[in-house]
Amino acid sequence: MTAKQEWLTIANDALTKAYVPYSHFPVGACLVTADGKTYQGINIENASYGLTNCAERTAIFKAVSEGEREFQHLVISGNTPEPISPCGACRQVMAEFCAPDMPVTLLGANGVKLETTVEKLLPYAFTEKDL
Ligand code: THU
Repeated sequence: MTAKQEWLTIANDALTKAYVPYSHFPVGACLVTADGKTYQGINIENASYGLTNCAERTAIFKAVSEGEREFQHLVISGNTPEPISPCGACRQVMAEFCAPDMPVTLLGANGVKLETTVEKLLPYAFTEKDL
């Protein structure tokens, strides 16, 4: 298995761990550090719906809280017919920690796949350069 295939598998495996008692809409993520370490993320819902944390942000926050700062790839997986589309909040958090040209792989059901980048997902992002 190539490293990339492994990352896709980690994101897909996360779907079975997602905590989604309200939406029944699982999302999985695999964030890869510059040196190849992987952080798996799931969406984690809450009875107070607005407190839900998306899979992408779970993966990013897990990694950042472990001291990671350099990332090379993010895979996001969903059971959607089309490749899953990350929400606006997650795009903003990606822009904070990942380079604009960092590849992002979006996965839908049956392996349908879209290769994009952080900048394509959030053009003209507000970042530290704007402060
Ligand atoms: N969700 C994610 O985990 N990532 C996204 O980018 C889109 C939405 C989750 C949040 C909620 O648990 C469920 O999908 C339905 O919105």
